[in-house]
Amino acid sequence: MDTEFCIVDERSITEVPVPSYTVEEHGTWALLLAKQERLMASRACKEFLDGLDLVQFPKTEIPRLRDISGRIEESTGWKLIRVEGLVHTKDFWNLLSRKIFPSTDFIRKRDELDYTPAPDMFHDLFGHTPLLTNPDFTEFFEEFGHIGVRATNKYPEEHEIHKMLGRIYWYTVEFGLIQTPDGLRAYGSGSVSSPQELEFCVGPKCRHHPFDINVIAKRDYDIWHLQEDVFVIPSFEKLGKDFRTWAKSYGI
Ligand SMILES: [Fe+2]
Repeated sequence: MDTEFCIVDERSITEVPVPSYTVEEHGTWALLLAKQERLMASRACKEFLDGLDLVQFPKTEIPRLRDISGRIEESTGWKLIRVEGLVHTKDFWNLLSRKIFPSTDFIRKRDELDYTPAPDMFHDLFGHTPLLTNPDFTEFFEEFGHIGVRATNKYPEEHEIHKMLGRIYWYTVEFGLIQTPDGLRAYGSGSVSSPQELEFCVGPKCRHHPFDINVIAKRDYDIWHLQEDVFVIPSFEKLGKDFRTWAKSYGI
């Protein structure tokens, strides 16, 4: 079956009605937030924790996208738009290149507290938006969009380059770790927004590989299980620099 992608509606999210959530859904947000905040201190990187302070998620109710978007915009100029689900990569790269991150506004079911393969708003907001307040990360993230757009223009049909970009995104933006003076810390949104992933990714059973963009670009990933192989960047600066060099080597 073909994957269905949602239509990207770029009306400002200030015009988009805030859904009315049930008491259970607000409770799901509160449970997830409390659990992740407990795990964060010794497992997430400083840049992510600083971002958490800036976005100030409400503790007991689901945040409004417009509020979070406003706080990100104040720090780096990035904005959120609301989407209903999966965005086609072509649209996704285009949005990133314009400093826009698409977020869902529905929350996972109670029986998916630990992991949901289809991203919900807890993944999109808690996982992605704190680092959108960090200029070192957003410089890389915006560049990802520009390089993605160039790859799409150069190779509009199916091409290995698209798979490689997807793998780089997966092993960095979604599940990347960073080396810090205090040890390994998570910055990937998939790791920081999932209790199981966050505990596992910095633990002894996870295989920690040195960051090598050429290895990552050729390595397939599995969306259905805990990530047993992760790659550790020395810094966001190095991540951005190696990514640009890699893209240039492919003429994009
Ligand atoms: Fe994500």
